[in-house]
Amino acid sequence: MKGIILAGGAGTRLHPLTKITSKQLLPIYDKPMIYYPLETLMDGGIKDILIISDPINIGNFVRLLGSGKDFGIKITYEVQDKPEGLAQAFLIGENFIAKDNVTMILGDNLFVGDGNFLDDAIKSFKEGGRVFAKQVPDPERFGVVKFDKDMKAIKIVEKPKEHLSDYAVTGLYIYDNTIIEKTKNLKPSDRGELEITDINNLYLKEGKLDVRLYEHYWLDTGTFEALLEASNKIASLRNE
Ligand code: G1P
Repeated sequence: MKGIILAGGAGTRLHPLTKITSKQLLPIYDKPMIYYPLETLMDGGIKDILIISDPINIGNFVRLLGSGKDFGIKITYEVQDKPEGLAQAFLIGENFIAKDNVTMILGDNLFVGDGNFLDDAIKSFKEGGRVFAKQVPDPERFGVVKFDKDMKAIKIVEKPKEHLSDYAVTGLYIYDNTIIEKTKNLKPSDRGELEITDINNLYLKEGKLDVRLYEHYWLDTGTFEALLEASNKIASLRNE
């Protein structure tokens, strides 16, 4: 299993903080944000990790994390020239993924509270895709899962206008190697991006998307409120 951390995006919702640095380098309590998704992948037993960021900030990730030797892992880096969608990571990372399966985590997603969940999910993974849904108060900000009456996922809609459910798809995705072919055949959405939600719906149509519920603390730190909440949460856990 290879790992990808996507640390791109313009971060415009966090201006002026992100005018001079990457969102994923901002502090969450006592560490740069990217440490948390990195730790999640490492907890999942992944030792070979690709970090993707924009041309301006990529050098700072290298300065921060280097070869990965200090963490006992191997880290490589690639540039995303323009933010053209989360799924673009699988095209940028094609040579890195090679013939393996891949777990991608978004650099601004915090999964806190259960160090084992990813390890378990990866060990039992065979084929298809596996994603993690979390009940949230503001689902319209995310990809949202529509379930049937038996809680079987029927479809996923990116930032739906109407209420489908309270379950957001979190920014952590496990895929088999067909991800590369699927992404190559994907058409950009109306906003000109290769959408991860379209990928998930492809797996779902094949009957190969496993949607698991994530029961612990999860946060997408894309807003000032979420940044503050994340820092407070980590601080309180550290000082317990
Ligand atoms: C992205 C995905 C969305 C997912 C979210 C999780 O949204 O497009 O499906 O629910 O990450 O953080 P973004 O944060 O890029 O708006």
